[in-house]
Amino acid sequence: MPVQYKDYENVFVMDHPLIQHKITQIRDKNTGTNQFRSCTEEIASLMGYEALRDLPLEDMEVETPIEKCMSPVIAGKKLAVVPILRAGLGMVSGIMNLVPTAKVGHIGLYRDPETHEPHEYYCKLPKPIELRTIVVVDPMLATGGSGVAAVDFIKKHGGRHIKFMCIIAAPEGIDRLHAAHPDIQLYIGHVDRCLNEDAYICPGLGDAGDRIFGTK
Ligand code: PRP
Ligand code: URA
Repeated sequence: MPVQYKDYENVFVMDHPLIQHKITQIRDKNTGTNQFRSCTEEIASLMGYEALRDLPLEDMEVETPIEKCMSPVIAGKKLAVVPILRAGLGMVSGIMNLVPTAKVGHIGLYRDPETHEPHEYYCKLPKPIELRTIVVVDPMLATGGSGVAAVDFIKKHGGRHIKFMCIIAAPEGIDRLHAAHPDIQLYIGHVDRCLNEDAYICPGLGDAGDRIFGTK
């Protein structure tokens, strides 16, 4: 079971050995784009399995080879996966493998290299966003600026039931996101030590977008 972080009721850190193993693989600077991408997808699936534990169920009638019975299915099919571009795209298929009927929204943000503040360049969310369980995905939660901005946008568009999944987080980013949005559930693969002077996570894994898309 995920472990609660500090006394933050809605913040959980993964403790599954498979997740930890795969995070070690993507940290390794010798891991190439192909393996980085497939590990990121697998981590997203494993984390999604934990983060979606509380999805509501409803009974439907099914006929087995023996007899008819009532059996539970996910209620409403109202899930939305929302990656923060670019790096969040690497986690989408991991969640879609679990819930293929989910809709996908996109939020485009990039960090200014000098100020480290996020800038929005795109936002498109599936309707009716207010009725959906929304899973925001981004591998990295560093200063927390992008995460806070993404959740701000989603709430401004009417989103209410929000979960945020990141693979690696800095303590600073967790505190900032939790302070701004204590109502959302935050799922973290691993909490790292700190940020460096360029606001990169230490030890982290470098620039997640560049590693997923091979742009460095
Ligand atoms: C990275 C990462 C997060 C953000 C985290 O994206 O994927 O979105 O930085 O940093 P923060 O918590 O300090 O805001 P980046 O801005 O590098 O854009 P990219 O995914 O397009 O490379
Ligand atoms: N964004 C990244 O991709 N990596 C970091 O360490 C911090 C922000």
